[in-house]
Amino acid sequence: MSQIHNNLLQMPQKNKTLGEFIIENQGEFKYSSGELSRLINSIRLAAKVVNHEVNKAGLVDILGAAGDVNVQGEDQQKLDVFANEAFIKTLTNREIVCGIASEEEDDFITIRGRNEKNDNKYVVLIDPLDGSSNIDVNVSVGTIFSIFRRVTPEGTPVTLEDFLQPGRNQVAAGYIIYGTSTMIVYTTGHGVNGFTLNPAIGTYYLSHPNMQFPESGNIYSVNEGNYVHFPQGVKDYIKFCQAEEGERPYTSRYIGSLVSDIHRNMIKGGIYIYPNTAKDPDGKLRLLYECNPIAYIVEQAGGKASNGFERIMDIQPTKLHERVPFFCGSKLMVEKAETFMQAAKS
Ligand code: AHG
Ligand code: MN
Ligand code: MN
Repeated sequence: MSQIHNNLLQMPQKNKTLGEFIIENQGEFKYSSGELSRLINSIRLAAKVVNHEVNKAGLVDILGAAGDVNVQGEDQQKLDVFANEAFIKTLTNREIVCGIASEEEDDFITIRGRNEKNDNKYVVLIDPLDGSSNIDVNVSVGTIFSIFRRVTPEGTPVTLEDFLQPGRNQVAAGYIIYGTSTMIVYTTGHGVNGFTLNPAIGTYYLSHPNMQFPESGNIYSVNEGNYVHFPQGVKDYIKFCQAEEGERPYTSRYIGSLVSDIHRNMIKGGIYIYPNTAKDPDGKLRLLYECNPIAYIVEQAGGKASNGFERIMDIQPTKLHERVPFFCGSKLMVEKAETFMQAAKS
């Protein structure tokens, strides 16, 4: 038997499952340990349902537009709607979540919990399907989630204030990547771990323990089609990436799925930029359910995330669907980009 085949057969026995990992590490969670298990469990369950649907997307009538436009003026794809419903349903009935904010919902959803007592403690902010423009062409998509403890008293309905917390208050965050294999990558503030789904038995195994963002790298990821609209600092940094000197020119890689672009850069080393443009002065990506959770993971893996000038997780949000320019990835590369932003400003 080949070594590779042998390794594959042994993987289920050798590697921890996500379930085992959660139980072993739940002591690290600063609140009640069982709560974290229940939260992550409900997310991994919904992720399996979405994964199943994404995998057969070419076979059933789930590709294409759903016919609606979300609050941000974007066409909703059928899978956007499916994933949104799958996560909301799964998170609603587990006596743990008191509110959900989603890219696909105009306003947040209140969950009153058992006997309508409003005693659940966590809010979840979610991009149910990230990279939806890639669905129809069989390119990786993802899910991004951010979890906070509520700030308003238990026993009262959740309010906007519970959702508008700076990213540094997150108690957990993660993403699911529906790629060549499906992975869940998450942090609770003690490093970042990645689990790969074995689709044959529906179990996630710890495949990427203690993920680390390389301090530097040679990949830059930005939609250069918008170059003429970029701020001068970003234009200057792109020219720096392309200059022939030392390790440069860097390689350009851009999938157009935030989760996939970040995942690749976290493994290989690189920077991801979605800047503000003349047309979109706040950029495109959403602070609460795209940038904050990715920033938490990236920082926990030793990388950096900023809006070009200040740390993403220190920004005080003012609205649910707020957008923000995003510079994220290998620490030294983000710091270099920030120096160009600063120089062009002054
Ligand atoms: P979503 O599909 O959740 O709306 O997010 C799309 C985002 C992000 O995934 C990606 O990095 C970015 O939009 C790509 O935007 P451009 O096509 O403008 O480059
Ligand atoms: Mn997205
Ligand atoms: Mn989305």
